[in-house]
Amino acid sequence: MPNEIAFTGGGSESINWAIKGVAFANRDKGRHIVTTTIEHSAVMKTCKYLETMGWQVTYVGVDWLGRVNPVHVREAITRIRFGERDARQ
Ligand SMILES: Cc1ncc(COP(=O)(O)O)c(C=O)c1O
Repeated sequence: MPNEIAFTGGGSESINWAIKGVAFANRDKGRHIVTTTIEHSAVMKTCKYLETMGWQVTYVGVDWLGRVNPVHVREAITRIRFGERDARQ
């Protein structure tokens, strides 16, 4: 259970805190992020920043209705293990 609540100035700041916070807190466990190609620019910019810091980001595509196929997410999660590079990127 969280023991702290952080109030932010808006959605973009919250997204930055959340993604970077989880990424940096767990950087010794792995540096692979799975997201989608249709995220808000706050998510995209944060992921692009983390790529410059050594993270690998897999952008899962969506269908014509904007739906993510969970099979593609599962493939993206299992494709890269700790320390491996994604040959398809
Ligand atoms: C999913 C999502 N992320 C981030 C934002 C940006 O929020 P803010 O303008 O508060 O930074 C929005 C705003 O609509 C949003 O819908």
